[in-house]
Amino acid sequence: MSQTLRNLPDHKGYFGEYGGRFVPDTLIEPLAELERAYAEIKDTPAFQNELNGLLKNFVGRETPLYFAERLTRETGGAKIYLKREDLTHTGAHKINNAVGQILLARHMGKRRIIAETGAGQHGVATAAAAAKMGMTCRVYMGAEDMKRQTPNVFRMRLLGAEVVGVESGSATLKDAVSEAMRDWVTNIHDTYYLLGSALGPHPYPMIVRDFHKVIGAEARAQIMTAENRLPDEVVACLGGGSNAIGIFHEFLDDADVALTAVEAGGTEIAPGHHAARFSGGRAGIFQGMKTFVLQSGEGQIQLTDSISAGLDYAGVGPEHANLMQLGRAKYLYVHDSAALEGFQKLAHFEGIIPALESSHAMAYGLRRAAEMSKNKIILINLSGRGDKDLSIVMEALNVKN
Ligand SMILES: Cc1ncc(COP(=O)(O)O)c(C=O)c1O
Repeated sequence: MSQTLRNLPDHKGYFGEYGGRFVPDTLIEPLAELERAYAEIKDTPAFQNELNGLLKNFVGRETPLYFAERLTRETGGAKIYLKREDLTHTGAHKINNAVGQILLARHMGKRRIIAETGAGQHGVATAAAAAKMGMTCRVYMGAEDMKRQTPNVFRMRLLGAEVVGVESGSATLKDAVSEAMRDWVTNIHDTYYLLGSALGPHPYPMIVRDFHKVIGAEARAQIMTAENRLPDEVVACLGGGSNAIGIFHEFLDDADVALTAVEAGGTEIAPGHHAARFSGGRAGIFQGMKTFVLQSGEGQIQLTDSISAGLDYAGVGPEHANLMQLGRAKYLYVHDSAALEGFQKLAHFEGIIPALESSHAMAYGLRRAAEMSKNKIILINLSGRGDKDLSIVMEALNVKN
């Protein structure tokens, strides 16, 4: 089973029954062109050398694998290791994909980059990559997300990007994706849509996954050096699914390594109050793909809610829907309140301030480590750092300036 899992998607872009390409006619040929361009360059030495050079010197890879010694002692169970994607340039894993796709854009002769963003991390990463390449960049962002992630809006603008607020729907990530797709359809001749998570129509879930596989490949080698064995469990937070699939992919063949993704449980698992697609959603077609979607009985997309903008999305990458269906990975959620506790614990015990997204993985990871025996190892993907979230946390904790 696992051998085939690592080889997915199939030639039509399906991970089992999920994925595919559900788009208007006008996007069929551009997506096919993107697929051809990617296939053409991805394994060439010239592309690989340039990508690896950027990952090393611009992004700052490889990122450390960090043994959280005090947290391990505090929780009293499994050894806790953190993969430090928070230490990458621009502060989150998103930059791995941004530099990969910007090279693809240049190869395709496109000089205008558009992107969507939720928490702003993908927007910042794309703006930075576009600045480096001397390309123009426009980022669509839900108006609600612009309010709660103001520092990232300013960072994108400093990096030369135009940030366009989207007022429709819930004014969050799904609305930004829709707006970016509309722009792409209109300006296809000179525009590259640099999609920010492992979702959307084929080939995006595959391309974004491929550019994040470096997380798991490094972590696997690093844990072998540190412990001379693989971890017992790998944990990541789950928005669209890119950091999770990035760290999971290298371990898919290792049946003894449990894989756990953590969704946003918001305030409660009731329509409109969370973003746990695998706890409240069902299969449907959404933003170009077949996947798990939060929807009403009539198929209307539900509003979502989470303290973390990056997890606040009604759909999820199709590769995860397949891994869930096959039982190869587990999909759980934690509530906002638990994520806030995870956020504070990591700061207190290790001197690291995580992103609120990553704090969901921390919250579950710490609870799980406590249940595991001391000879076990748990590896948590620390997808990003928390500078962007300080005002949200101050408000949530009712801290006065
Ligand atoms: C730090 C961080 N982690 C995780 C995510 C969630 O995205 P994904 O599931 O694609 O990794 C985001 C999204 O903005 C993010 O900024």
